[in-house]
Amino acid sequence: MQEVASTVMERCEQLGDVSEEADALTRPYGSQAMREANELVSGWMQGAGMSVSQDGIGNLVGLYRGTSDKTLVLGSHLDTVRDAGKYDGILGVLVALTCVQRLHDRGERLPFSIEVAAFADEEGLRFGTTYLGSSVYAGAFDAEHLNLRDQDGVTLREAVRAFGGDPDALEQEGRGSGNLLGYCEIHIEQGPVLEEHDLPVGIVTAINGQSRVGLVFDGKAGHAGTVPMEGRQDALCAAAEFVLEVERAARAESGSVATVGEVATLPGAANVIPGRTELSMDVRHPDDEVRERLRDHLKTRAQEIASSRGCDCEWRLRQETPAVRTDPDLSAVLARAVEDSGMAVHRLPSGAGHDAAQVAGLTPVAMLFVRCKEGISHNPAESVAQEDVGVALETMGRFLERVKEGLTLP
Ligand code: GLV
Ligand code: MN
Ligand code: MN
Repeated sequence: MQEVASTVMERCEQLGDVSEEADALTRPYGSQAMREANELVSGWMQGAGMSVSQDGIGNLVGLYRGTSDKTLVLGSHLDTVRDAGKYDGILGVLVALTCVQRLHDRGERLPFSIEVAAFADEEGLRFGTTYLGSSVYAGAFDAEHLNLRDQDGVTLREAVRAFGGDPDALEQEGRGSGNLLGYCEIHIEQGPVLEEHDLPVGIVTAINGQSRVGLVFDGKAGHAGTVPMEGRQDALCAAAEFVLEVERAARAESGSVATVGEVATLPGAANVIPGRTELSMDVRHPDDEVRERLRDHLKTRAQEIASSRGCDCEWRLRQETPAVRTDPDLSAVLARAVEDSGMAVHRLPSGAGHDAAQVAGLTPVAMLFVRCKEGISHNPAESVAQEDVGVALETMGRFLERVKEGLTLP
């Protein structure tokens, strides 16, 4: 298995070089880098005996036909955050692809077909909304997102068209659930739990819900040398107070996490009082009610902080996704596969979002987490051991066996 795992590692390296930036891995939706990544992966899919199609948003889907049209979907995403690691999403696509490669090399056809889905946009780096790719696949695309603009003012509608898709058809592009057996996503854990338990893989119980918001604080630009401190309408000071409120409020609400990851200030000069500051905010919790309460509290506080400083605050809810539980039956099959591989079964929730959360609207989902070094992710230091990739491949091979057994036993 180590030889196969080393191919996965080499391909992760290869995709790690496909970037919009020379010195960092950054592969946003609709970029030239994404085009190149799709071409590479499409070639590997074809080499593994799959017929390949690309849907309207750019999801790549490889089909390995079995002896029936019942279909199991395996996959994850190919886009990245800014200055990313090489494994988030990518590992899941490559492990899935390699499972099919192994069947193809043995000339083996299963009593069901396998689709390997390589989703086009999970991170939302370009448009600030997550799961764009898998929402199309799952038939849950929200056409309102088409009007979102990237930092250069390009709309999602324009980006989809430039990538070769028809934006107005995306709502109808869902794959449909007709012949599906389920979806299983392999993904690095992005946290420290498996490492703490000294285990290479684990089984996901649930995926946290998330709210993503864009905020704009509008104040009054002015001369940094002449406007007295009293009475300034400094948009960045209002935003800064809000950022610390986000941290305080999330700390006070057990189990929640909240992050301001983007800040842009205009006009942006050393001697000009900031007139406008734009922020992103990401709030998560396993319990949707708690997340919504925290979100509403922060909305109220944003308005209060803005008016106490003579500023206005605009609050734009970009996207919300509820918490999703993985399917107990499909997860039990995956757990048996973990045991078949000689590993203890450890179940854990996911604080990170995954395409499985969207695909769950279409078919039962399960997820296999793979240990990553020190739980580091969304960071170029992301690291996965080849041995653990070997265990993931072994487990997924056994999972396919178990699914086959479930279909063929009387
Ligand atoms: C995706 O990585 C997310 O959880 O934001
Ligand atoms: Mn991911
Ligand atoms: Mn990610």
